Amino acid sequence: MEPLLELARMVEQSRPATAIRMVPWLYPALMALHVLGIALLVGGAAAFDARLLGLARREVPLAGAARLLLPLSRAGFALTLVTGLAMAAAMAGTVVQSAAAPVKFGLLLLAGVNVLVFHARVLPGLPAGGAVPGAARLCALASLVLWTGITFAGRWLAYA
Ligand code: HEM
Repeated sequence: MEPLLELARMVEQSRPATAIRMVPWLYPALMALHVLGIALLVGGAAAFDARLLGLARREVPLAGAARLLLPLSRAGFALTLVTGLAMAAAMAGTVVQSAAAPVKFGLLLLAGVNVLVFHARVLPGLPAGGAVPGAARLCALASLVLWTGITFAGRWLAYA
């Protein structure tokens, strides 16, 4: 833990990280953008997952839903990543000592694996209509559970 904490303290004392703490509106603005990113990321993913699980209207074509929702989700992830890293840099010492951090970043890793498996193995074989294959439904369920868990762990990070 010691070398990691030392590294975190160095990051925290860098000029950009110090600016994020010192400029009064900057951290709240990053947090607001983080939340907007989460809305796009989790909203897009959840709507597509609901379609895969048969919870959303089946007359919406899968390919159309993917073309609309997955780019929104990707843009949301990019925004969440950039703002999350900036906030984490500003409070790096606290983040590496937080009990919530391993949970949040561990779940993020699993969500990343789920996205990779879905895009490499499942999405190319999705039928245009009809029944959704079991593997796609499993990925959708994992996605819903993981993004929900990450959201809870993200909120917990402010307290732990
Ligand atoms: C991708 C890398 C990410 C990093 C480095 C990161 C880092 C952070 C940091 C440092 C905070 C601030 C905690 C505080 O102020 O005490 C935060 C808040 C939060 N994060 Fe992330 N985050 C990331 C992605 C995500 C994702 C993907 C989600 C959800 C799906 C998420 C959900 C949250 C939530 C709900 C909060 C609390 C917002 C609030 O208090 O209003 N984060 N994150």
